Amino acid sequence: IDISSLRNSTGGIITLDPGFKNTGSCESAITFLDGEKGILHYRGYSIEELAEKAEFLEVAYLLIFGELPNKEQLDKFHDDIKHQSVVDEDVKKILDAFPKSAHPMGVLSSLTSALTAFNPSSVDVRSEEAMYKSIVKILGKFPVLVSWTLRKKMGQPLNYGSTSLGYVENVLQMMFSQPNEEYVLNPIVVEALDKLLILHADHEQNCSTSTVRIAGSSHAGLFVSLASGISALWGPLHGGANQAVIEMLEAIQKDGGDTKKYMAKAKDKEDPFRLMGFGHRVYKNFDPRAKIIKKAADAILNDLGIEDPILDIAKGLEKEALEDSYFVDRKLYPNVDFYSGVIYRALGIPTDMFTVMFALGRLPGWIAQWREMRLNKEPIGRPRQIYIGKTLRPFIPVEER
Ligand code: ACO
Repeated sequence: IDISSLRNSTGGIITLDPGFKNTGSCESAITFLDGEKGILHYRGYSIEELAEKAEFLEVAYLLIFGELPNKEQLDKFHDDIKHQSVVDEDVKKILDAFPKSAHPMGVLSSLTSALTAFNPSSVDVRSEEAMYKSIVKILGKFPVLVSWTLRKKMGQPLNYGSTSLGYVENVLQMMFSQPNEEYVLNPIVVEALDKLLILHADHEQNCSTSTVRIAGSSHAGLFVSLASGISALWGPLHGGANQAVIEMLEAIQKDGGDTKKYMAKAKDKEDPFRLMGFGHRVYKNFDPRAKIIKKAADAILNDLGIEDPILDIAKGLEKEALEDSYFVDRKLYPNVDFYSGVIYRALGIPTDMFTVMFALGRLPGWIAQWREMRLNKEPIGRPRQIYIGKTLRPFIPVEER
């Protein structure tokens, strides 16, 4: 091979970094993360302070526009979102065509993508105002789609939200209210969901966010870029881990609660089983979100008067892992998804809806990252490769093969 012509044709030296373990894809002013120290900031505010003091919609505004809103800005933002909280009736026909058994994440991704067809102006990015319109549109319509995926699954009539409720209250009302029954919002549940959504709202260039940015870098519209992110989030190594954790904990419980057996499986390199909810590409100390969620799980179950043996199994696994050299040497700690499922379960959310709730929380982060990418006029994302296939060979007609 003529190396110089290879270099010319590739445009320079290629770094090979499978999984982008050490490759930055952009400059970003949204989220700061120090995986060694276990630090996470949104726009300069610590995740601990935001989870304790802020509301989800304020955090969404902060992530997308860079500053916390004042009261007037927040009210306007919320009003603009409320005005967009109706979904075209024809979307119901698409939903209708899915089997009841369809996984909610597949349904959510499809419906989010389909919204482009009903809102063609949402691909307009010629001005910040045009972008703003698409942003409030999706923030208004997404919770409706979330509730519809649940109601479809449960065989319940579809509904719309109420304009008199807060963003998170409205989500709960849409998901759980029943016709001819008064739905009473429990403030403990509202606060717990608000906190969970804040903790999931952004996490710099993770798999789904990178997917949103790379899809958007081809100048695909906001809604389809988000749909790509939803698909990436679905996998069990990423957002789908919250469902996988609860299924794992339930399996351990059914199996008599023998955590040691599952620890051994997780360490066995011949066994594909992994301790779900453990390990993280970036956190090599602890995941600060997991710390907050673990504390919240205890408090919420206590406040709701729920005793869930699964929480004890989770705590047992964590304790064993922290004392086990396999996990200690590899710096494997509980991640955001290890305890979140315990809370979703306590809030009455079905297991296969957990990743949908994650998507609802991550929505502002995806939007912020997409907007930043467009405003920065980033080039199309197009990684290179090292070709390891056959060298040139002659074609052989099918009769002679
Ligand atoms: N259980 C057992 N072993 C593990 C686990 C686990 N959960 N996670 C990593 N390891 C081991 C690997 O086998 C590997 O061991 P080796 O060095 O002996 O080969 C080592 O730890 C490093 O793991 P990698 O897979 O190379 O780490 P990577 O950074 O590529 O993966 C990931 C990170 C995907 C999160 C991984 O830890 C994992 O699969 N965890 C379980 C799924 C999960 O909880 N995902 C949610 C992540 S948070 C989020 O996305 C919202």
